[in-house]
Amino acid sequence: MSKNIKILQDKLDQAKLGGGQKRIDKQHEKKKLTARERVNYLLDEGSFEEMGALVTHRTTEFGMQNQIYYGDGVVTGYGTVNNKLVYVYAQDFTVFGGALSETHAEKICKLMDHAVKVGAPIIGLNDSGGARIQEGVRSLGGYADIFYRNVQASGVVPQISAIMGPCAGGAVYSPAMTDFTFMVENTSYMFVTGPNVVKTVTNEEVTSEELGGASTHSTKSGVTHFTSVNDVECLEHIKVLLSYIPQNNRETAQHLPMEFDDELRENLDSLIPDSPNKPYDMHEVIRGIIDKDSFFEVHKNYAENILVGFSRIGGRSVGVVANQPMSLAGVLDVDASKKAARFVRFCDAFNIPLLVLVDVPGFLPGTDQEWNGIILHGAKLLYALSEATVPRVTVITRKAYGGAYDVMNSKHIGADLNFAWPTAEIAVMGAKGASEIIFRKEIQEAEDSELKLSEKEAEYAETFANPFKAAQRGFIDEVIMPRDTRRKLIKAFAMLENKEVQRPKRKHGNIPL
Ligand code: COA
Repeated sequence: MSKNIKILQDKLDQAKLGGGQKRIDKQHEKKKLTARERVNYLLDEGSFEEMGALVTHRTTEFGMQNQIYYGDGVVTGYGTVNNKLVYVYAQDFTVFGGALSETHAEKICKLMDHAVKVGAPIIGLNDSGGARIQEGVRSLGGYADIFYRNVQASGVVPQISAIMGPCAGGAVYSPAMTDFTFMVENTSYMFVTGPNVVKTVTNEEVTSEELGGASTHSTKSGVTHFTSVNDVECLEHIKVLLSYIPQNNRETAQHLPMEFDDELRENLDSLIPDSPNKPYDMHEVIRGIIDKDSFFEVHKNYAENILVGFSRIGGRSVGVVANQPMSLAGVLDVDASKKAARFVRFCDAFNIPLLVLVDVPGFLPGTDQEWNGIILHGAKLLYALSEATVPRVTVITRKAYGGAYDVMNSKHIGADLNFAWPTAEIAVMGAKGASEIIFRKEIQEAEDSELKLSEKEAEYAETFANPFKAAQRGFIDEVIMPRDTRRKLIKAFAMLENKEVQRPKRKHGNIPL
């Protein structure tokens, strides 16, 4: 081996070792994979090409000139997942705890610039003690360079973040601005300020896990869209997500061959309970419509009164938004509105058609909701759907009451096709509540007010608790047999494939944030 070749080989070998074997062992003891192991697991075998393996930091303060590690705490490069190009960076906790330096940030930025120019997803695997303390503001500048690029890339290429270790302080704002965040249970956490600062400022005693662990962010804050039990599961989930989404905003997601056409799903005919107050699981409706086992749920444990996720219908990737009668009777509240609005915007930005399944009794009443701004948050969903130009199809399975009827992808806000099952009830409110208001006097004056109420309730239900009034007006295109839903949707999404909508020129709209 010539001398030069040996020099290069030695450097590359050193780079592969990151912060050294001892620190690698420590990483494994914590049940975490190393940055390189993660990248290799995520990408198709042998497809990874590294960029910047020999980059080193430029800091001389605090004796840093004597602590040089090739790669400077982040592994960056490109490769393929299921044969499709992706850009990936993985922070290496074995080098200064994965802390972000100026050069570490430059490596990430270079990758992001490539991804936008070429049009391929960016995947960031985060495992970092935050800003490189020895570098001060240079490190903070590096973060801001990344944040700025996150925003410029938003809606251009999909951006995915996995949190596989610490992610604290300013570091949280890059994942927050990407499209999807994954967290690993027990080994990852995210917070703006850690437990010590919290204790000092608010006197609250809280552990890192309680404050910002995976289960906290998947249930309470909604900061993470997915949680996994370990690194391997997390990386598997990322691969599944990638299978539903396109490479960039000029492409559409991969269309798989359709295995079965025109299937009847007869079980759907008997799914809706006789009583309008009895819940049923909207997952069953989804299962009854989509290609087998294709529902990939997003934000599964957050705002469970609405379901969102990717599915395939006749091989096409379709984003599903559905009220869930099993949770809070499927009402829209602050969290559900935010969750659904964000999902709708992702789908619209990346050309993924939308299916909206409706069984909604209205917005959740109460001071908590009003004081937390349900007006503004509900408006987010209304806005997101109204501005979406992808193919949009609605199926009303049961209730579509009040303003929530309008919001849930009604014809009036631009849906392309609106179907209803014969069990649909499209009205201003439920028959009981409506009768109590409009027949109040008659009911009060009746000898048997209970009896009168039930008579009036039946009268109101007969008139409005059905889909036919809406169908007469054309607000519903077709009242369909539940068993036919799948085949209607396969045809509908195929028919809408070349939909194009031109909007007047504007800088950007002003979604109520
Ligand atoms: N800057 C520079 N080096 C850092 C660092 C940072 N922000 N965070 C961690 N490191 C280094 C540590 O000095 C240590 O170096 P060593 O391997 O040479 O001993 C190594 O990374 C691992 O850190 P350690 O503290 O031993 O790991 P841990 O798993 O016990 O704790 C943290 C991880 C992230 C909780 C802890 O390191 C920490 O609190 N870091 C500072 C977080 C912070 O305040 N960041 C700045 C604000 S964004």
